[in-house]
Amino acid sequence: MSTMESLIGLVNRIQRACTVLGDHGGGESMSLWEALPSVAVVGGQSSGKSSVLESVVGRDFLPRGSGIVTRRPLVLQLHKIEEGRSDYAEFLHQPRKKWTDFAAVRKEIQDETDRITGKTKAISNIPIQLSIYSPNVVNLTLIDLPGLTKVAVEGQQESIVQDIENMVRSYVEKPNSIILAISPANQDIATSDAIKLAREVDPSGERTFGVLTKLDLMDKGTNALDVLEGRSYRLQHPWVGIVNRSQADINKNVDMIVARRKEREYFETSPEYGHLASKMGAEYLAKLLSKHLETVIRQRIPSIIALINKTIDELNAELDRIGRPIAVDSGAQLYTILELCRAFDRVFKEHLD
Ligand code: GDP
Ligand code: MG
Ligand code: NA
Repeated sequence: MSTMESLIGLVNRIQRACTVLGDHGGGESMSLWEALPSVAVVGGQSSGKSSVLESVVGRDFLPRGSGIVTRRPLVLQLHKIEEGRSDYAEFLHQPRKKWTDFAAVRKEIQDETDRITGKTKAISNIPIQLSIYSPNVVNLTLIDLPGLTKVAVEGQQESIVQDIENMVRSYVEKPNSIILAISPANQDIATSDAIKLAREVDPSGERTFGVLTKLDLMDKGTNALDVLEGRSYRLQHPWVGIVNRSQADINKNVDMIVARRKEREYFETSPEYGHLASKMGAEYLAKLLSKHLETVIRQRIPSIIALINKTIDELNAELDRIGRPIAVDSGAQLYTILELCRAFDRVFKEHLD
């Protein structure tokens, strides 16, 4: 593994450990979490957020259906493992269990959502944390968020529209947040909820990646070149066009690998988008994000190291206060963060030598 891969892996693990402390206040370790970059997925309901995430991961594992399906943030950490090993998943709330059945993972996301919100259509800010280990992923932390919506539906409080927006905003307004702004190509980009929010919190577009889904569903005779080539709405990063599985594909159980192949063929054979084919699709998006994350972490190494050293001091003081024997959960977590911070510092210094 390269130094950069090790550092990104450590950042992932520090983030995971910090999330556990989320409800405990967390002190310095929370500012550490805020200093580390992650990718937040935003967009209107049914814009294709879950589909894009599944495509980036290359597995079916997210709950779907109409209405608000994602009702708690899902912090999804992708860990690349050796070629030849098989995929598995782990939930933070069930640390000792390895999941190899991804349909069961989907069911557990639903059940764990209901455990907090009840079987209502309410939302909760408390994240679900899922790690996926696979040879086919790049090291990335992605956060799936409830879809932005304009009206409450039957059984929901009127305030839900604003509550969702506030929740999504709390993630994307942090300067370390990379925004994956999902808009469907069959709607006017000027009306995109994702772009509207991204423009507010990141006016220069330096941390926003524009993703255009549903290219296959555009009216005949129209195309999305103005958006994809940056003329409609300019961002610092190139727009990425996506063709996810349609609902009919999902109903027919078209698997992810076939879907990725069909997506590639779509772009390669497209008269309109053929010239952009190598820069379109979910696989390209995953690589683009991973590369960007690497750049951001590289740029931030000095400030991450400084914060880590500060955190080490604070954690030591905190551990002294609660006593070294690691009885309580949060003590164990603080200890984990401390160890990971030291590892980050060590890997970084070895790299300097
Ligand atoms: P979310 O609510 O933003 O998470 O959206 P989903 O990923 O659940 O997608 C909503 C619906 O749109 C599903 O029926 C998907 O199959 C369909 N869909 C998403 N992306 C595409 C696409 O690129 N092409 C087509 N044909 N359907 C899509
Ligand atoms: Mg969804
Ligand atoms: Na996610």
